[in-house]
Amino acid sequence: MHDLDQTTITQAVLDQMATTTDPRLKEIMASAVKHLHAFARDINLTPAEWLFGIGFITQIGQACTDSRQETILLSDTLGLSALVNALHDKTRLDDATDTSLLGPFYRDASPEFANGDCIAAHPDSPEIGFYGQVHDLEGRGIAGARIEVWQTDEHGFYDMQKFGNEKSDVRGTFTADALGHFNFRTVRPLGYFIPMDGPVGSMIKAQNRHGCRPAHIHFLITAPGFRELVTSLYQGDDQYIDSDVVFGVSSSLVIQAKRNPASPFPSLETIHYDFGLARATESGEARIGADPSKLLKAPGLVGGA
Ligand code: BEZ
Ligand code: FE
Repeated sequence: MHDLDQTTITQAVLDQMATTTDPRLKEIMASAVKHLHAFARDINLTPAEWLFGIGFITQIGQACTDSRQETILLSDTLGLSALVNALHDKTRLDDATDTSLLGPFYRDASPEFANGDCIAAHPDSPEIGFYGQVHDLEGRGIAGARIEVWQTDEHGFYDMQKFGNEKSDVRGTFTADALGHFNFRTVRPLGYFIPMDGPVGSMIKAQNRHGCRPAHIHFLITAPGFRELVTSLYQGDDQYIDSDVVFGVSSSLVIQAKRNPASPFPSLETIHYDFGLARATESGEARIGADPSKLLKAPGLVGGA
């Protein structure tokens, strides 16, 4: 038996975990232990701080329900979700449209609309238009591409925040025409606070961060043979465009609605954006975000939940 101290404990843990049969699990856990121990040494973690951290993680778990995912929100606000998204993007074969986070307000069920329709049921601000083309990386339109769109209303609320799962609004699914074109009318989205009433909100307040996302419109675009595109377009004049609390903005995704006589909606301020899809690969799930109800039933490491 050898006595463990702060210089030998890390290797002792790694040695004990060396029996892990799944090679990827073994790699992940070894790296996690090394970084976790290095972190504790780096900041000279005290027992009180360790206990505070344990309490915080416990509260994060307790705040999760089938309609709220506080753990993903923590990952988002620490930039981990954006980092994983960027790492996944590196695995694509082509230089397609940049991606962004799916976020917690995506729903599988999204009503079908025809091109030209308005996705806001009762707009109480002037409508804006949106038009674009879904194309491959040679610029050829992708006929029949499916475009799911969701956003906040002009007051900064998603339908789910107003109606739960009862009713949908400012959300819809479009099908691109034979040349990959699609268009719709909507309202100008407003930026919003991430949920601030839980442990992540307490962390954001303790850090004197504003907790806001700049106004944006989410897109999930699919077509057979192409990699699913999860992205958002961000309103360039939003005051939080350079300080998104979840680090989702990149400059290629910044847009501005303006009058455009060539648009299908010449009388409206209009956004024009074309989306390039990468070829499909075997690199797995691209969505950074999830339906919270599914995660409560996520399988455990060994033999299910
Ligand atoms: C959103 O875009 O809806 C979102 C993304 C991450 C955290 C909170 C909200
Ligand atoms: Fe959003």
